[in-house]
Amino acid sequence: MSEKLFLSGTLEPPGDKSITHRALILSSFIKGEMSVEGALLSQDCLSTIRAVRTLGLKIKISGVGPSKRANLLIRGGGIDSIALGKKPFLVEAANSGTTMRVLAGMLAGRSGTFKFDGDASLRKRDMTRVLEPLAAMGAPVQYHDVPGKAPFTIQGGNLTGGDFALDVNSAQVSTALILAGLSAQGKTSVSTRDVIRDHTTRMMTHLRLPFETENNGLKIIVECLQGDLRARDLQVPADISAAAFFMVAAMLLHGSQIELLGVGLNPGRTLVLDVLKAMGGEIELINERTYGLEPVADLKISYSGQLRGTTIAPERIASGVDELPIIALAMAFADGTSVVRGAAELVQKESDRLRLICENLTMLGINVEQHSDGFTIHGSGPVKHPMNISGLWKCDGDHRLAMTGHIAALITGSDLQIENPESVDISYPGFMIDLRELTCEN
Ligand code: S3P
Repeated sequence: MSEKLFLSGTLEPPGDKSITHRALILSSFIKGEMSVEGALLSQDCLSTIRAVRTLGLKIKISGVGPSKRANLLIRGGGIDSIALGKKPFLVEAANSGTTMRVLAGMLAGRSGTFKFDGDASLRKRDMTRVLEPLAAMGAPVQYHDVPGKAPFTIQGGNLTGGDFALDVNSAQVSTALILAGLSAQGKTSVSTRDVIRDHTTRMMTHLRLPFETENNGLKIIVECLQGDLRARDLQVPADISAAAFFMVAAMLLHGSQIELLGVGLNPGRTLVLDVLKAMGGEIELINERTYGLEPVADLKISYSGQLRGTTIAPERIASGVDELPIIALAMAFADGTSVVRGAAELVQKESDRLRLICENLTMLGINVEQHSDGFTIHGSGPVKHPMNISGLWKCDGDHRLAMTGHIAALITGSDLQIENPESVDISYPGFMIDLRELTCEN
């Protein structure tokens, strides 16, 4: 590989995955037609589309581009129109934790029997965090194989609200319980310790669905929804979790300058920006605006000279949990030590991200210490390009690790073998096309 690769150009990254899931699932509560512009059509979102279509939503898809940004025209007949019939309804969530957990919450309040299953990775992930509170609200669960894991069946029906203080800072769980609360008798409150992505309540406000907050927004209180929601068109920002891969590559490759358009800057998602800036990264926010109620900006990112190590405050982890693999790569080539603690959730993701981040960076020759809740990275300083490493970048089917591996190969000029490269389709089907488009040689 040439020594003179750099990133240059302008790109609109794909639509936000979390917002696309929520637009599809909250549409079950609307009566009328709503357009969702710039939605993501990745494997995970297709799992949600399949499920809500079976529930009765009509969805027309158009305008699919190379990054799979699509326009959805969704027609809902209102929450009571959801045709469940007598047969158990099956949600095949494949790899998508959001599809499984959030739909579990929404369906727990509908009368019917709902079976959920997923692929081998999703079957390993903890579901008690969402199913125990739903059972306490009145939706009993039966596990078919391993207690606490998919496959499982929920008996939905008459829910009663409750007060839930979550011990994990999980937006999926919070969203599931809020949606269950919209079909429950009495009030339901959900609180998290730290700031998490608040796409659900922003979308609820956009759709004029009332709720209350306490404790600076960390506690959300909802009541049973009376009647249907009125449809209201939405525009989906570009996904900061997808943008993060190019941000780090541009910062590390000499001569790079890129512009990423319409990137969502929800306050529960901006850890990556803050960490990269703290490391000395040059990021300029321009054209700050909103899409619906979501803050958005165009990001100008340039090669930033030598990055320096940093420490992430544990209470910020939830605002960038999906970006920790690519942040760790930036830390690997910074000067000095970086510390990430309070990130035990990494073990609960699509793979054991904690172990695989550490093993992959070690394979690159970086000095990393793994802890039970994070890692310490002793940065190697500037990439001695090309490093010409030829090793296996382990992913265990995890899309975010696969994309991090491609960026690691690019910045080190190495011929890494990326395990399960096709997994990028889970969140970013056009990733390789976009990466090639931005990559230049001089
Ligand atoms: C998501 C929340 C996060 C994140 C996931 C998407 C969401 O998971 O890792 O990719 O859309 O709510 P947790 O809620 O488990 O932290």
